[in-house]
Amino acid sequence: MKQFNRTLVTAALPYANGPVHIGHLAGCYIPADIYVRYLRARKADVKFIGGTDEHGVPITIKAMQENVSPQDIVDKYYAIIKDSFDAMGISFDIFSRTSRQIHHETAAGFFKKMYDDGLFEERESEQYFDEVKQVFLADRYIIGTCPKCGNPNAYGDQCERCGSSLSPDELINPRSALSDAVPVKKKTKHWYMPLQNYEPWLKQYIIEDHKEWKNNVYGQCKSWLDNGLQSRAMTRDSNWGIKVPLKDAEGKVLYVWFDAPIGYISATRELTDQWQDYWCKEDSRLVHFIGKDNIVFHCIIFPAMLKGHGGYVVPDNVPANEFLNIEGEKVSTSRNWAVWVHEYIKDFPDQQDVLRYVLCATAPETKDNDFTWKDFQDRNNNELVANLGNFVNRTMVLMHKLCGGKVPPMHAEQKDAADDAVFAMLQEAKAKISESLETFRFRDALNEVMNVAREGNRYLQEKQPWILAKTPELQAQHQAQIDNCLHVCLQLTANLAIFINPFLPFTAKKICHMLKVVDRLLEWENAGSMKLVSVGYSLRPPELLFKKIEDEQVKAQVDKLHAGLKKPAAAAPEETPKPEAKPEIQYDDFAKLDLKVGTIIQAEKVEKADKLLKLTVDLGYEQRTVVSGIAQHFKPEEITGKQVTLVANLAPRKMRGIESQGMILMAEDKDGRLVFVNPDDAVAPGSSVS
Ligand code: MF3
Ligand code: ZN
Repeated sequence: MKQFNRTLVTAALPYANGPVHIGHLAGCYIPADIYVRYLRARKADVKFIGGTDEHGVPITIKAMQENVSPQDIVDKYYAIIKDSFDAMGISFDIFSRTSRQIHHETAAGFFKKMYDDGLFEERESEQYFDEVKQVFLADRYIIGTCPKCGNPNAYGDQCERCGSSLSPDELINPRSALSDAVPVKKKTKHWYMPLQNYEPWLKQYIIEDHKEWKNNVYGQCKSWLDNGLQSRAMTRDSNWGIKVPLKDAEGKVLYVWFDAPIGYISATRELTDQWQDYWCKEDSRLVHFIGKDNIVFHCIIFPAMLKGHGGYVVPDNVPANEFLNIEGEKVSTSRNWAVWVHEYIKDFPDQQDVLRYVLCATAPETKDNDFTWKDFQDRNNNELVANLGNFVNRTMVLMHKLCGGKVPPMHAEQKDAADDAVFAMLQEAKAKISESLETFRFRDALNEVMNVAREGNRYLQEKQPWILAKTPELQAQHQAQIDNCLHVCLQLTANLAIFINPFLPFTAKKICHMLKVVDRLLEWENAGSMKLVSVGYSLRPPELLFKKIEDEQVKAQVDKLHAGLKKPAAAAPEETPKPEAKPEIQYDDFAKLDLKVGTIIQAEKVEKADKLLKLTVDLGYEQRTVVSGIAQHFKPEEITGKQVTLVANLAPRKMRGIESQGMILMAEDKDGRLVFVNPDDAVAPGSSVS
């Protein structure tokens, strides 16, 4: 294996067109932060790069929706996003923006060098143009009727109602989102990167040399490469973005996916004069944390750009996660089905580590995963409070009570096999946690840390120092054993601080504070040692690491999620095909129906007919016998007493020898479930319905 001397870790640059939600955190920022904190604890030379992606159609669309300038949008969301990451303890060394001057220079220079080296093809194509606004229209700016589902407000790249991806040419009656004008085709010139030229190199680089990449990443790359690559335009017609640094390129900007990853380079330049050590030296390791929708850009296009430009290292790994769903449904920012990080921080102040914990423990590492508030509560209450928090708290409380608030000595003559087992367990855990972290298996690593806490609780339960100290006499007699037990537990607590630190940095800090040790304790090389807190050292009083999350808090969050749900503009709710409609009727047709409210006073099965129930319906002025095909939906006893609506003037009809004198109205949903159509409030039997 290659020997690396420094690591540059990047986390995808979110578009500055909205706040970040917990899907962002779980997919990319928390894993990246855990990894970086681990490397720092190992005293590795590492830099952690982040920032916002401030160009491209996502920004201009949002500006149009909010009726402000793109600059206003990116300024607003940069601040919100940065605050969210800061609050969650995402420990970037720099959090930059692609709108900064240094990035404009870096990206334009990058493009210019590739251009000068003849690495682009210049091509003309026809694009939709808005003659009223005098601008070319990105696919997103063209609206029309979806050819698949008839949604009149489908976008030129996608229909949000049926989810089909589209091209503007497929839209029926296309119109411009800017002016409503019918767009026309117009010739335009762009610069393309012939990705097919990089195919042999990419195949060697990924398929042969990086078989260790995660399956989801490797698989997606392989399928792209197997299908063959094509030229891709690296410029766009727009007035928002990085100007193409060529003459004759009025109104052209760099494609956002060309400029954004260069943002990692610009931010490193902004951070340190030594930026070239990270980007250009062969012993530097480049690692990109991203979500699965970014794979092709980070594994194929950006490496091809770096390779074409020359002088740069290429990504050594691209650990991409899948998506996190919320309460069983896909996150949708347009429908506001999301848990926003800035709101979480308001609702759960000082509980950042709980969210970090849950999002790591349920991270969509290999497949999409689901976040639910109930699971959030369970994991907090059953794992953080009951396991980790409980162990540390019991240790601290007992130490204060039974050892005078000072780290007790270890009496060698009383040491036993259980004490030695703790030491051995720590060595093993350290090896496993390190190995999992180094291979991006963060869930496994966290699980292993929680096992250490579990072992601690087990050890304490086995030793039961509170029993040994039941009376002052007993305690005096057993003080050596009590000392040993709490000595071991305190060393274990210090080890837990080291292990948990990459995952739950706020918690690690709290433990250090209680143990009165400085952050240097948290260095990884200290893990496994049983000499982390010194004998005789007096410690601070215990404080709780975690608190219970109550049912009301969970309910409030679930309610908030549902209350905030927005219907997408002008689109019918998804997956609700229009039911078949019957031909129009006149009022007279309707008025012929005699609809009456009645009460079922008796219900029984009809012999040898497993679908039928014989009902007696009381209309107040008379009783009717009705035979109804609902026996597979209702038990007789559960419907007696129910109010129903009856078609009272339907001609009587014999069924299984019983005369049915009317029909009961039922609604049937798409899953075939039946419910009675009845008045919202009880009314007198015999009331007319019209
Ligand atoms: N803004 C993109 C997104 O949210 C990610 C850009 S990552 C970078 O999907 F490579 F371009 F920086
Ligand atoms: Zn559609």
